[in-house]
Amino acid sequence: MSDPARVAVIGSGPSGLYAADELSKHGGVSVDVLDRLLCPYGLLRYGVAPDHLKMKSLEITLRKILERPEVRFLGGVELGKDVHAAELQHHYDAVVYATGSAVDRKLNIPGEDLAGSFSATEFVAWYCGHPDSEVDKFTLDARQAVVVGVGNVAVDVARVLAKSAEELRVTDMPDHVLEVLDASTITDIHIVGRRGPAQAKFTTKELRELGDLANADVIVDPEELVLDEAGEQAVETDKTVRRNLEALRDWSQRSPEGRPRRLHLRFLHSPVAVLGNGRVEGVELERNELDGHGGVQPTGRTAVIEAELLLRSVGYRGLPLPDVPFDERAGTIPHIEGRVQRDGAVAPGEYVVGWIKRGPSGVIGTNKGDAKETVGRLLDDLDELPRAQHGKPDSIISLLEQRGVGVVRWAGWQAIDAAEQALGAAVGRTRVKIADRKALLTAAAEALPEDR
Ligand SMILES: Cc1cc2nc3c(=O)[nH]c(=O)nc-3n(C[C@H](O)[C@H](O)[C@H](O)COP(=O)(O)OP(=O)(O)OC[C@H]3O[C@@H](n4cnc5c(N)ncnc54)[C@H](O)[C@@H]3O)c2cc1C
Ligand SMILES: NC(=O)c1ccc[n+]([C@@H]2O[C@H](COP(=O)([O-])OP(=O)(O)OC[C@H]3O[C@@H](n4cnc5c(N)ncnc54)[C@H](OP(=O)(O)O)[C@@H]3O)[C@@H](O)[C@H]2O)c1
Repeated sequence: MSDPARVAVIGSGPSGLYAADELSKHGGVSVDVLDRLLCPYGLLRYGVAPDHLKMKSLEITLRKILERPEVRFLGGVELGKDVHAAELQHHYDAVVYATGSAVDRKLNIPGEDLAGSFSATEFVAWYCGHPDSEVDKFTLDARQAVVVGVGNVAVDVARVLAKSAEELRVTDMPDHVLEVLDASTITDIHIVGRRGPAQAKFTTKELRELGDLANADVIVDPEELVLDEAGEQAVETDKTVRRNLEALRDWSQRSPEGRPRRLHLRFLHSPVAVLGNGRVEGVELERNELDGHGGVQPTGRTAVIEAELLLRSVGYRGLPLPDVPFDERAGTIPHIEGRVQRDGAVAPGEYVVGWIKRGPSGVIGTNKGDAKETVGRLLDDLDELPRAQHGKPDSIISLLEQRGVGVVRWAGWQAIDAAEQALGAAVGRTRVKIADRKALLTAAAEALPEDR
């Protein structure tokens, strides 16, 4: 029997794992899933809101993919630092880039970089216990917070700010995060959209959850719910817009019930400056008018929200990988149906999937169909691809070890998993995440040497 084809998937987020799923189901293919982090699952572990327990449980499904005999997890291996794209060609017949969109987009307004102004990306990474995030990054000693952007990430971060620490104890948030949330002095959170409610990006289920918070009243100004022709049309044709509007109109009629926090949902305002002497003291907003086509025009009228914390939630952006083609404008790897394009031609043996292929939009399930497309093309090409002289499957691990890269294999991750569950059990929680990289390595070292 001939050796299986060997494929490297770079990134163990949902798209990488759905690609590994498609590849391993095919037969005759063995897959290494490499990730720069020591733990798998990408944004499912380090992005999806910790209080969305049902969505988090998708890990159980993705775990089964990594447990297949054809699939190996190699954590702690960064493409571009520990191993280079050209080297992968010697070890694998094909490579699938699944590195996601790791960084935030900018607002490009004065004061954006003042202390107290953060991207939602930073806040999410901190409360999810991402090992790159500094433990003491957030203090939450503000009174008012502004969240710019009206997508699902904005809803997530606003909800986390609005909930009490007690409500969040059911999550796997690290202890240092719960301590800061417990000491939070925030009373008012303003979520601000630049366009109208019909153009908001959040989905209805996520929006409605804000109206059910025990710890916060939702406040909506009916004047900001006006619709133009484009908005009326969207209400007619788009179920999400219609349902969002129903929820928002309902809230605009409610009176606050005296809950500890207030969540203000604002529309038709663009941030134009972040004010403050050394740190954020306010956010200047300019009132916009609907233009009838789904866009807005500035009116020149401005107002200031006195806030000490700003979270910019205006979307994510992909990062270039060394020696891998990159479209700077789109923040993605150029491709046709998942086949990477180098200088306008197909690059044999290189594929791309997920957010680094499509850009930072779509829910976890979207990556499944996306992986089907990419892996479909890879399998179409497989017989024609030049076979790499890859030698033994462990040669890549030997190379990494020679370089001093501490590769965390599946047993290492299982040891981390067990350590987090034990930390949780000790305090009556299901899991407490370990955020510190050194502590993660220590936990991984508990795996038996022969399994590591
Ligand atoms: C804050 C937030 C909350 C979300 N919540 C939900 C939700 O509740 N429900 C839902 O359906 N969708 C949600 N999404 C969307 C969902 O997370 C994405 O659709 C999905 O994670 C994209 O998958 P991906 O594999 O392309 O990227 P990612 O999940 O980002 O995975 C990329 C992986 O690549 C690794 N990597 C990056 N660079 C390198 C490198 N150089 N070398 C090796 N490895 C590398 C990263 O460490 C990471 O593990 C959310 C998104 C965000 C940002
Ligand atoms: N529970 C879930 O299912 C869940 C949770 C989190 C994330 N996700 C998914 O993850 C993806 C990313 O979510 P996201 O919220 O980061 O992105 P998003 O849905 O694209 O929303 C980005 C928001 O930022 C606004 N924005 C962009 N540039 C701006 C600027 N310069 N000034 C003011 N506002 C600006 C956008 O407004 P405009 O529309 O006017 O550009 C939009 O409201 C989405 O597909 C989302 O559905 C899903």
